[in-house]
Amino acid sequence: MTTDKRENNKQKVIFSGAQPTGSLTLGNYIGAIQNWKALEDQYECYYSIVDLHSLTIRHDPKAFRKSNLSFLAQFLASGLNPKKNVIFFQSHVPQHAELGWILNCNAYLGELNRMTQFKEKSETHKDNINAGLFTYPVLQAADILLYKTNLVPVGEDQKQHLELSRDIAIRFNNTYGKVFEVPEIHMTKVGGRIMSLQDPTKKMSKSDEDANGTIFLLDDDKVIIKKLKRAVTDSENKVNFRDEQPGIKNLMTIHSKLSGMSMEQIENEYEGKGYGAFKNDIGEMIVEYIQPFKEKYNEYMTNEDYLEAIYKQGAERAREKAEATMKVVRKKLGLVKF
Ligand code: AMP
Ligand code: TRP
Repeated sequence: MTTDKRENNKQKVIFSGAQPTGSLTLGNYIGAIQNWKALEDQYECYYSIVDLHSLTIRHDPKAFRKSNLSFLAQFLASGLNPKKNVIFFQSHVPQHAELGWILNCNAYLGELNRMTQFKEKSETHKDNINAGLFTYPVLQAADILLYKTNLVPVGEDQKQHLELSRDIAIRFNNTYGKVFEVPEIHMTKVGGRIMSLQDPTKKMSKSDEDANGTIFLLDDDKVIIKKLKRAVTDSENKVNFRDEQPGIKNLMTIHSKLSGMSMEQIENEYEGKGYGAFKNDIGEMIVEYIQPFKEKYNEYMTNEDYLEAIYKQGAERAREKAEATMKVVRKKLGLVKF
């Protein structure tokens, strides 16, 4: 139970987050959430729907509110147990924004300029390159450091942001005395980067303009089978785990994560069979795998009172820990106590 874990201060802390835009993808699930579930019994875990981060992109407030609740339902439907994990909205814990500002004063333009996600997003949102988009990774560092986090389970795309969080933690500790843990990245060995089904050199993304490249957990069964059928492969006609066959490599990774089979077992299974059977099996496997997710999601979505109880309780628990850290941070900085 979380209470027991929290009383034992030797317990290591986990923090991770996802933006409430669109809906969860198979990439999010395999790269991050599957991993979160595996950790809930051994660690004190905080999982946040990072709604403030999403404000860096223009949005429609009405749709955004819905999307936020939908994300909470998706977290729960993924099997995250709210008794074992602290699940909350970032904006319900004002200490994130407070520490975000303080860390902004301890982050350098030069290091933020190097962030590839900022470069990519400035390319895709040319008409709205706002200051929040630039300091996005500093708010992320605040999310992580606020809970004295030891481990951050994320996909490979977040490696650079994690490095920055570490640098900021070390810099702050050296300047003002030790407050923060220096967080480590925790990545799954296989599946840290699920690729687009349409372009296996690009990561599968919520915001891909080609929806055929992305499997959304809320996609219709038929749509999933169709997306798999259309997945880009090659003309080798051999199910082999090789860099030269990036499409097949990606599909094998998905297969392996869902079936638990090794790459060698998968190669043997499909020897002499065409890609058609392989893709069809994976499609069916995904459909079957996410069936319970969909059922639970629909149940949670019809019960807003339950969702409210979960996010209120989560925020309360998160605020308690966040405020304890902030008291120390304010003191170290010489801010007068209130
Ligand atoms: P995001 O969808 O960008 O909010 O990401 C939420 C989490 O899912 C982060 O830990 C990402 O690193 C992870 N993630 C996103 N896309 C992928 C992908 N294609 N493969 C593996 N992990 C991913
Ligand atoms: N930037 C992350 C993403 O795009 C989301 C995120 C925000 C996050 N704060 C975090 C992830 C803290 C891990 C820890 O996926």
